[in-house]
Amino acid sequence: MAGHKEIDEATGVETTGHVWDGDLRELNKPLPKWWLYTFYVCIVWAIGYWVLYPTWPTANGYTKGMLGYSQRATVTEEVKAGKAAQSGLRDRLQKTALADVRKNPELLQFAVAGGKAAFADNCAPCHGRGAQGGNGYPNLNDDDWIWGGQVDAIQQTIQHGIRWQGAADTRESAMPRFGLDEILEPAQIGDVADYVLSLSGGKADAAAVERGKATYAEQCSACHGEDGKGNAELGAPNLTDAIWLYGSDRATVMESIRTGRGGAMPAWAGRLDPVTIKSLAVYVHSLGGGK
Ligand code: HEC
Ligand code: HEC
Repeated sequence: MAGHKEIDEATGVETTGHVWDGDLRELNKPLPKWWLYTFYVCIVWAIGYWVLYPTWPTANGYTKGMLGYSQRATVTEEVKAGKAAQSGLRDRLQKTALADVRKNPELLQFAVAGGKAAFADNCAPCHGRGAQGGNGYPNLNDDDWIWGGQVDAIQQTIQHGIRWQGAADTRESAMPRFGLDEILEPAQIGDVADYVLSLSGGKADAAAVERGKATYAEQCSACHGEDGKGNAELGAPNLTDAIWLYGSDRATVMESIRTGRGGAMPAWAGRLDPVTIKSLAVYVHSLGGGK
């Protein structure tokens, strides 16, 4: 058949000489040259790739290629470089006195970024993602501080926690349970609640406020202050600023007086490393209410 090339009448194209079913002839239409050469180039390129780069799996690994390239090694190296760049800043943060961190913009930025990330992981479940707080959990954005808003006071709170059992230096102070321990009669609690509400401009019965005022001076002023402005040494909140940890309605204020509350926060020393705690203190301090 070879050599017997004919021209197909209908198309005018040369046939290969193959005949099927007695009368079907195959037209000779080779692949275009550009396609064929591209294909050859790809084969050559692939062989070059096999030689140079890791490609074929073998029984106990894979062919490594002449260049010794490895994605894993590249990533490991990049991570190492990133850590090295960070560790310079971490070292400096560790060595810098807490109060001096804000004097160095680069260090401050590093601490705030690290503190923000650690806050999202560890603190947001209680204090909220934006540190806005919630019932029983203080808002950390305002300048109303139960335990003090200086950066070192904030760090101490984070480190040792508040009323946290097992933490030796935890912040400790308990408001008496005036109702549960029957120190005051329910009526007296109502009156002193009215007086407390009047301190922040709340509406209250004048006679009750007067009666409550006497009880307050006797039972409450030692911790909350004669003027009701609170005392950070004792963790006694300011009662005059209309910012409430537990709520501002009369029933809630009465409940605070009845039970003494006693909110607790975990100590973080030992769970978080000192640089992270320092970063958290700087971050919380930077939220707007830091003193
Ligand atoms: C299990 C819940 C919980 C977690 C988690 C928690 N806190 Fe607290 N935090 C509290 C409570 C409750 C208080 C208020 C305690 C009180 O009544 O005095 C508080 C108080 C504070 C205060 C004192 C505020 C003030 O006005 O003086 C700071 C600062 C603070 N938290 C920061 C943090 C940081 C930073 C983290 C994360 C490392 C964190 N907290 C994680 C529950 C929590
Ligand atoms: C020994 C100190 C101490 C004494 C005395 C004391 N308190 Fe307190 N008080 C505290 C502390 C500490 C808290 C914070 C409790 C907490 O954070 O869970 C507090 C919280 C409160 C709160 C809740 C404030 C809020 O923001 O929700 C009210 C209201 C209050 N006290 C009223 C009184 C009244 C009224 C008296 C007197 C009858 C009194 N306290 C006596 C220490 C004291």
